[in-house]
Amino acid sequence: MTQDELKALVGQAALQYVVPGQIVGVGTGSTVNKFIDALATMRERIPGAVSSSVASTERMRALGITVFDANEVDELAVYIDGADEIDGKGFMIKGGGAALTREKIVAAQSARFVCIADESKQVAVLGRYPVPVEVIPMAARRVTRQFAAMGGTARLRMKDGQALVTDNGQHILDVSGLSITDPLQFETEVNQWPGVVTVGVFALQGAAVCLLGTASGVKTLTY
Ligand code: 5RP
Repeated sequence: MTQDELKALVGQAALQYVVPGQIVGVGTGSTVNKFIDALATMRERIPGAVSSSVASTERMRALGITVFDANEVDELAVYIDGADEIDGKGFMIKGGGAALTREKIVAAQSARFVCIADESKQVAVLGRYPVPVEVIPMAARRVTRQFAAMGGTARLRMKDGQALVTDNGQHILDVSGLSITDPLQFETEVNQWPGVVTVGVFALQGAAVCLLGTASGVKTLTY
């Protein structure tokens, strides 16, 4: 199976976690796009979704799925999103699609995070994928130095020759060269650096379940 077919497989499998009659939290990315396409087939059975990005909002609205503002909803039963890496404890690196801040917000208001990913995302230790960090632009240089002191190399994410601007009007640093052996400690520490909006390690908001697309079908991993 191609990677795209594996993404479609887990996107479809995630429907079993959507609670009829309840609003669902929806992430961002190419795997989530497959989930959104599948979700459209049951749009009459849910009031709608809370979205983690402008891109997911637009895709859902185009398919007739109602999108609610996060502030209109208290708790969500489930949040469904992809990952750039996931380890054996359900801790993840996320933010390859630059949506990490809103993803963490919706994950935090959800009782259960269901990760959907193809098996290439499974790792023993987080960090081979550069960690996305959303920063307030004036802090980028100092935060870059703080990562250098940890052995990491931070690069400003670019788009069309300019610094990429997130849905929140901020910038992204992609930090390579880190081996994140204690994701909870790493997330807690970097969260406190002035100017860091969100660090793309999801340990405090880790996955409860991962639907992993493999050559032999969908594996369900629980943490
Ligand atoms: C977006 C994300 C995505 O979930 C992550 O990048 C995985 O994306 P894809 O499903 O396209 O591989 O965190 O900010």
